[in-house]
Amino acid sequence: MSNSILLINDINKMQSLCIDYKKKSFTIGFVPTMGYLHKGHLSLVKKSKRDNQITIVSIFVNPIQFGQNEDFDSYPRDLNRDLSLLSKYNIDALFCPNYNDMLPPDFKSYIDIQELSNLYCGKIRPGHFKGVATIVNKFINIINPDNIYMGEKDFQQVFVLETMIKDLNMSAKIIRCPIIRENDGLAMSSRNVYLSESERENALCLYKSLLLAKTMIRNGETETKIIIDKIKKYVDMFGILDYIVFVNDKTFVEQQKISRNTRALIAVKIGTTRLIDNMRMN
Ligand code: PAJ
Repeated sequence: MSNSILLINDINKMQSLCIDYKKKSFTIGFVPTMGYLHKGHLSLVKKSKRDNQITIVSIFVNPIQFGQNEDFDSYPRDLNRDLSLLSKYNIDALFCPNYNDMLPPDFKSYIDIQELSNLYCGKIRPGHFKGVATIVNKFINIINPDNIYMGEKDFQQVFVLETMIKDLNMSAKIIRCPIIRENDGLAMSSRNVYLSESERENALCLYKSLLLAKTMIRNGETETKIIIDKIKKYVDMFGILDYIVFVNDKTFVEQQKISRNTRALIAVKIGTTRLIDNMRMN
């Protein structure tokens, strides 16, 4: 039942609760989200529940990761819906801090993961990863989780945050979780609600592009440029390609030749909605 979830808005209360958990040597799993939950988010919650004694979920639509002309105001929000979806997972707390407490007017301290933040999604969304890293850093300081559950859906985000954790000697570990898809293959996303019926059909071009790349590789293609050219032509029929890129899954270095660890990342604008997806190529 939704009213059985412990909902915490107060940062100090959340922090002292987590200090108590730590005193008892409980392991804490943390699932950061921006809400409007779907099965992708819930798969992270399920995994955290399985792996840890305590599971904390956060919902915070983080203003500092949205650009000026992006969808911060229209981003879908429905706390009651989220509470009811979370009700069957028996989480220990849902943390929904207030904007003014998280980011007071005199807030000045940002985390910037250089270079990585300016590639691909970061190039198109300047400041986005700085906003993500800063807010996740704050959440880590408040909750002190052992494990943070993150979807590979946002692969660059995972890589940026793993880099932050390593560079700053943080003890939390990021657990990469697989992409959850709709039956036809579209990666689940809170932003899919923006799509009209015809856009929803066009949105399948992301998943199909990744499958096309995989098929070309299976048929012997090793030059990423040739695959990219083909995908550009294909995506043109459905939307506007932001980027398609092949990177090493472990190092995030762009690849010209397909290798064992290649992952393809794609971003496409379908109407006014920008969607992303990615897939390992072997
Ligand atoms: P949000 O988009 O709500 O996503 C929260 C988490 O759910 C992220 O780790 C994301 O990768 C994961 N997720 C989203 N769709 C998924 C899918 N189809 N399958 C598996 N996992 C999926 O990502 C953010 O929020 C924010 O940037 C945040 C990390 C909370 C910082 O504000």
